Amino acid sequence: MTTPVSVAFTETELDLIASAEGRVAVFITPDGKLDQAGRRVNRLMKGTLARIVESGALEKKSAGDIISLAWPVGLSAEALDILILPRNASVEESRRAGVALGRSKGTKPLLLLGASLKRPVEVILGAVLRAYEFTPHKTSETQEGGAITAMVAKPDEVEAAAAPALAVAEGVFFTRDLVSEPANHLTTTEFANRILAMQDIGLKITVFEESDLERLGMGALLSVGHGSASPTKMAVMEWQGGPEGEPPLALVGKGVVFDTGGISLKPSAGMEDMTMDMGGAGVVAGVMRTLARRGAKANVVGLVGLVENMPSDRATRPGDVVTSMKGDTIEVINTDAEGRLVLADVMWYAQETYQPCGMIDLATLTGAAIVALGHENAAVLSNDDTLCNTFLKAAKAEGEGAWRMPLGKGYADLMKSQIADIKNSGGRPAGTITAAEFLHRFVQDGSAWVHLDIAGVASVKSETPYAPMGASGWGVMALNRLVADMLEGD
Ligand code: BES
Ligand code: MN
Ligand code: ZN
Repeated sequence: MTTPVSVAFTETELDLIASAEGRVAVFITPDGKLDQAGRRVNRLMKGTLARIVESGALEKKSAGDIISLAWPVGLSAEALDILILPRNASVEESRRAGVALGRSKGTKPLLLLGASLKRPVEVILGAVLRAYEFTPHKTSETQEGGAITAMVAKPDEVEAAAAPALAVAEGVFFTRDLVSEPANHLTTTEFANRILAMQDIGLKITVFEESDLERLGMGALLSVGHGSASPTKMAVMEWQGGPEGEPPLALVGKGVVFDTGGISLKPSAGMEDMTMDMGGAGVVAGVMRTLARRGAKANVVGLVGLVENMPSDRATRPGDVVTSMKGDTIEVINTDAEGRLVLADVMWYAQETYQPCGMIDLATLTGAAIVALGHENAAVLSNDDTLCNTFLKAAKAEGEGAWRMPLGKGYADLMKSQIADIKNSGGRPAGTITAAEFLHRFVQDGSAWVHLDIAGVASVKSETPYAPMGASGWGVMALNRLVADMLEGD
């Protein structure tokens, strides 16, 4: 697993600045004020920081921007990063500055002179998240990244406050690794094994095999995997950090390790991107890891359907009718609309087994979500304003884009089948909404449910707010905060 760069917290020792290797980061307010460490850097660099202020260069910058100087005279470091942050910097500004640090950091050690930062933890979180790299398949690259040393006021307190943030980073990295991993490596079995390994951090894990899924009547989920040599599985991750007997929040993820489309084969151009079609399951696994790592005082259960959508002589055909665990029959119009078949059964199992206090599903479900919202926002659809607004608030606070779209009977009607209870594709119009209406049918009366279509945000070909190009880990932070806001009362 890609591990977040290690972070050490110490008191400020001005005399160590000149000889620090790698990069040194200092901060300056937008109106040019330096703190004690900044004044030391300025002195060592013969007034360079003062000249920057005089030049007016800061006026062209915003809070959270950085100015980087290479090979700074007077320092042993290879570079000096100057963070422009007001004394009362917001979470967003602080993270943005951190992201800028993480972007330039590379594998070098970093000394952060953060004694007067308002939110050192947010700066560090931004830097750690942005410094991610997926390198397991690069034979020439070493994985080792230089550590971050943060000189801060009250290092013990900052270290304690940083622990949950570093748990978040670990969850995000776990998700990104899963999403980045090619499908010949991340098979359904390998995915289940990575989840099973989280037993070591206190999660209760159960993996259901095909025979178990048959016994449960999961004909929809199983139909997706018929064409693949990889066995279909369902993995359940239970975190019991809250009161015994209190119903959990259920997180359900689509884990299609590769989506060829099946017999309704996708065009070859860009098909390689479908290695990320387990993104929903990846986020669920990452959130569960974060919750366990920070010891969340909440009950949460994560459930993922792990399956590969392949064409073969055994694959489900267009026109086949399958029976879901709920008992509803589904006409498979298009074998490429497979994610909803996976979720229908796993969501039903989640409700039958746990009577959750709320259910949130995540899936790279429709290309239409990208048409509607691009890569800026996940599509959010819900039958419950309270749960939905709590999620939207959490996503906003974490800087993860999310935008609500409507549900409605008119959309649900597009999913009517001639020969079965429902069909799995309603055609092109409102594809994200009709997919959600399909899922809605598998939500029990009175269940609060939010559907997150993350097709546009799970993996992006340009950098995102906290990640380099590639897997973003979108949603881990928002869901972690939702758990805190909703179930932990802070
Ligand atoms: N995994 C895809 C959706 C997707 C597309 C995710 C692009 C990420 C990027 C999903 O299984 C799919 O193929 N959906 C179809 C549904 C259609 C057949 C009703 C789609 O969006 O075209
Ligand atoms: Mn598909
Ligand atoms: Zn898919």
